[in-house]
Amino acid sequence: MKEEIMEIALKRGFIIPSNEIYGQISGFYDYGSIGAPMKRRIENAWRKFFLLRDGVFEVETATILPEIVLKASGHVGHFGDPLVECKTCKKKFRADTLVADHLAGELEKAEGEHVKRLKEHLSRLPGMKPEEMSAKIKEFRIKCPDCEGELADVGWFNLMFKTNIGPIEGNPGYPRPETAQGIFLDFPRLFRAHGTRLPLAAAQIGKSFRNEISPRQGLIRLREFTQMEIEYFFNPSNDKHPKFGEVASQKIKILTRDSQAAGKDEETEMTAQEAVERKIVPNQILAYYLARETQFYQMMGIPYSDFRFRHMMPDETPHYSGGNFDLEVKTSFGWIETIGTAYRTDYDLSSHSRMSKQDLSVFIEEEKKRIMPHVIEPSFGVDRLFWCILEKCYREKGGAEGRDWSWFDFPPIIAPFNCAVFPLMKKDGLKEKAEEVAAILRNDGFNCYYDESGSVGKRYARQDEIGTPYCITIDYDSLKDGTVTIRFRNDGKQIRQPISDLPSTLRKYKKEGKVTA
Ligand code: ATP
Ligand code: GLY
Repeated sequence: MKEEIMEIALKRGFIIPSNEIYGQISGFYDYGSIGAPMKRRIENAWRKFFLLRDGVFEVETATILPEIVLKASGHVGHFGDPLVECKTCKKKFRADTLVADHLAGELEKAEGEHVKRLKEHLSRLPGMKPEEMSAKIKEFRIKCPDCEGELADVGWFNLMFKTNIGPIEGNPGYPRPETAQGIFLDFPRLFRAHGTRLPLAAAQIGKSFRNEISPRQGLIRLREFTQMEIEYFFNPSNDKHPKFGEVASQKIKILTRDSQAAGKDEETEMTAQEAVERKIVPNQILAYYLARETQFYQMMGIPYSDFRFRHMMPDETPHYSGGNFDLEVKTSFGWIETIGTAYRTDYDLSSHSRMSKQDLSVFIEEEKKRIMPHVIEPSFGVDRLFWCILEKCYREKGGAEGRDWSWFDFPPIIAPFNCAVFPLMKKDGLKEKAEEVAAILRNDGFNCYYDESGSVGKRYARQDEIGTPYCITIDYDSLKDGTVTIRFRNDGKQIRQPISDLPSTLRKYKKEGKVTA
C-alpha cells in the first residue's frame, strides 16, 4: 500500500524528491504543483478551525535560534536519539527502532512465557538509556540489519543541525527543531500587546529541522518539515477553557496508561467531559484540544476508526510534563504519531527567565500577585497529516464506482484544485467560452484547473486522479443558454447550472462537502 501511494504521489506531482537530479538525500521532499496547493489548503483549514474561530493570534518567528535559547529549552542537552553503528559496514541506525524491530520479529515467532517476556522488554524500551540499550543488543544478539556485522555500543546523537551565526567562529546557532520556542521568546510582547490578560494563545505554521538518523519513511520522517503549533498560556489556578462547553460531549478514544501497563492495545472511548472527570486528561484546556483535534481530523478525511490518542507513559515524557497525548493514526507504516499535545507546565517560560535573566512572569490583577503562566501545546505535523490524507482518501481502480483509474476522495476544502473547466471541443467558440468561465472563477479566488487536451472522458479521469471534486464542461448548449454541466467526482453524475451561479454554487458545495449529485 505505501509503495503504491508513494508511486502515485510522485507520478501525479503531489511530492518530488528534493535535489533529485543530483541524487536524493533522504529526509527531504518538495511539494509539487498538485501537492503544494493541497498542503496550503490543509494549513488554511487548520488556521480557520483552530486560530480564527478561537481568537488565537498567529505569529511568524525566526527559524535560526542562537545556542543560548536551545540550551534553556533543553534541546542542546537532551534532544536526541540513541545511535548505534555497525562495526563492519559503518552504517548508523536508531538503536531503539532497531531493538524494537528485532523484538517485534521475535514476538511473531514466540509462544507461551516467551511472549510475555518479549512484551515486557518492548514496553521498557521507551525512555531507555544508551547503556541499557547496548545491553539489550548483546542479550538478544542483534546484528546489523544490512550486513549482519557486529554492532558497537549505543551512543547519543543530538538531532539538531548546527550552524554558525555571522562570520565569526564560535557563535553557534541552530535551525529550530520546533516552532514553539519563538513563541515563548515573544511572549512578553504578545502579553503586553493584547491587554496583559490570560489566557492568551499564539500559534505559528512553519518549518522545523531535525537531523533524523535514518529517515526511511517518506513524509513521515523528514529532516525538514512543517509544524503547526499553538501555545495556550493560562493561569494554573484557572485551567478551564472558555469554550469547553462546545466540545464537552465530543467522544475521544484514548489508549490509557492503565491499558498500556497491562500490555493491552485497546482504546477506551469517553467524552471530553468524562476524560477530565476521570482525571485521565489533566484539565479542560487539554481535553478541549483533544476534542477539537478529533473533529479536525475527520474534516480532513481521516476516519474516526483510524486514529486514537495514546497517553504517553511517564518514562516517555519529560519530568516537567503535566501529561502528553499523541494522536496516532493507523497507517500502512503502523500507528504513527501525527500530533503531540503536551501540558508543558511553566517549564519553558521559567527556563527562559533563568537563562535570559528577564522576568517572564505576569501580574494577575485579581490575585494581586505575579505568576508564571502554564502552557498547553498542540503540535501538529503537516507532512505526516498530508501522508495520512493520501492513504485514507485513496480509492483503488475497479472499486465500487467501477473506474479503471485510481482516484482520491479528498474533502473539497483541501482538494488541490477547487474545480476544473473544460471545453467539450476546441472549436466553434467552445474554447473561448471555457476560458471565459475559467477566468470568472479564477478572478473570484477559485483554484481552477483548465484542460482542453484529449477526450473529455480522459480529462475527467485525470481530475479524479488528483481528487478535483467538480468538473465544469462547456458544450454547445452553453453557447445558447449560458449554462454548463457540473460533474461530481464521487458518482460521476452531472447537473446543469447557469454560469452566473457557478461561484456561489461551488462555494456552497465546498462548504457542505458535497461530492455526489
Ligand atoms: P517521533 O517520535 O515520531 O520522532 P516526536 O515525538 O519527536 O515524533 P514531536 O516532537 O512531538 O514528535 O513533534 C510534534 C509533531 O511534529 C509530530 O507529531 C509530527 O507530526 C511532527 N514531526 C516531528 N518530527 C518529524 C519528522 N522528522 N518528520 C515529519 N514530521 C515530524
Ligand atoms: N513542540 C513540540 C515538539 O516539536 O516536540
